[in-house]
Amino acid sequence: LESEGFEVTVVADDVRAYNALDEGSWDALVTETRSARIDGIRLLQVARRTNPDLCAVLIAEQDQIDVATHALFEGAHDHQTRPLNLDKLIAVLRRAEETARLRGRIQELNRRLDRKYGLHNIVGNSAAIAAILAKVPQIGASDATVLILGETGSGKELLATALHQNSKRRNAPLIKLHCGDLSEGLIESELFGHEKGAFTGAVQSRAGRFEMADGGTLFLDELGDLSLSTQAKLLRFIQERELTRLGAERPIRVDVRLIVSTQRDLRAEIEAGRFREDLFYRINVVTLELPPLRQRRQDIPVLVDHFLREAASSAGTPVATATPAVMSRLLRYSWPGNVRELKNTITGMVLSADPDAPLEVGDLPPQLQELPDPSEGIWIPLGTSAEEAERRVIEATFKSVDGDMFRAAQVLGVSLRTLYRRLNIYRGE
Ligand SMILES: Nc1ncnc2c1ncn2[C@@H]1O[C@H](COP(=O)(O)OP(=O)(O)OP(=O)(O)O)[C@@H](O)[C@H]1O
Ligand SMILES: [Mg+2]
Repeated sequence: LESEGFEVTVVADDVRAYNALDEGSWDALVTETRSARIDGIRLLQVARRTNPDLCAVLIAEQDQIDVATHALFEGAHDHQTRPLNLDKLIAVLRRAEETARLRGRIQELNRRLDRKYGLHNIVGNSAAIAAILAKVPQIGASDATVLILGETGSGKELLATALHQNSKRRNAPLIKLHCGDLSEGLIESELFGHEKGAFTGAVQSRAGRFEMADGGTLFLDELGDLSLSTQAKLLRFIQERELTRLGAERPIRVDVRLIVSTQRDLRAEIEAGRFREDLFYRINVVTLELPPLRQRRQDIPVLVDHFLREAASSAGTPVATATPAVMSRLLRYSWPGNVRELKNTITGMVLSADPDAPLEVGDLPPQLQELPDPSEGIWIPLGTSAEEAERRVIEATFKSVDGDMFRAAQVLGVSLRTLYRRLNIYRGE
């Protein structure tokens, strides 16, 4: 073995072997099944305590074959009878070396994923983000279903990924499925899989996302888009931890942790008869809510800084800065697309602006350039009712955007529908 480049330690008897294995971590163990006091299987067990991935090869006499076979169940890689086949021994050890190298590579990739999806990648100074970050390690470690609420672009997928990366399932897959992207017929086969011939076009049997996520996490994005019948099947999985492929006779068990998200108001969906109440109670175990960016404006400066650095490092340029006038507009804008819109705005500006000068107002997209000047304020004396104050703000905003409904809604950070409703109320309709 040494002439093949392996580093070998030879110990003379079983007791010394036991002590050596007990003291350090070894990559491989070659031993006999039978010895004076401590048999090979016992040595194997001791060795695996310090290195569960250790490669063990047991050498047995002809009459000890069943002991050696049993060793395979204890985690041994191979066994041999005398006379020894040295080439085979070397091949087994080489393969184990390769496996260990790949295992190390996976760990390295995981560390990289941690850098990318670890907690410090969820940027924010607000109390809301701090509270969520504080909970991620504990919630990640549990197997509880997590419901993530938040508007589009608020970071739901980023949070789901961080939960998976902070769980004991991190070496198993994180499978994602957007429930709104597929037709009702397709979604059930995507989720639960199907057997050959289950429906026209099912020429082969296929595993669904649940099976792919076995041992890991399944992230169901926009759960509110599922039909009532698919919701029933999902509920059954949550209760029984088993599912049935379309067209299959028997259910199969899978070990999957669920993370679900939605932009919809599920209680309103229940009222409207579009969402099952029993399913809601099953998924509403741990709920994390990402507030819209306009309600946590203190996150904007750190996010801007984060995205400026990210854009610079991917373009290989120095980190750009933003003038105070740009920052003031970024801080005042309503961000209907939340963090995603902010990220795209910053990335777009860095790509198109002069790389040697700070980012100017002229580099901003039109809707941010056109934001009304904050010095053109309105005076609302103390004692004004909330309703009256709101009316005056809306009126003044309208004037500042020349009566453009769409821009007024953007500046105010409300939907067009909400704005129309308010206007109708003021007009006494
Ligand atoms: N707190 C944050 N820190 C850093 N980046 C963030 C943060 N929140 C969101 N992002 C980034 O913003 C983008 C949108 O986030 P994400 O895809 O998680 O949103 P989402 O809520 O899933 O949106 P949708 O509802 O449209 O699917 C991503 O590029 C994400 O990395
Ligand atoms: Mg998403």
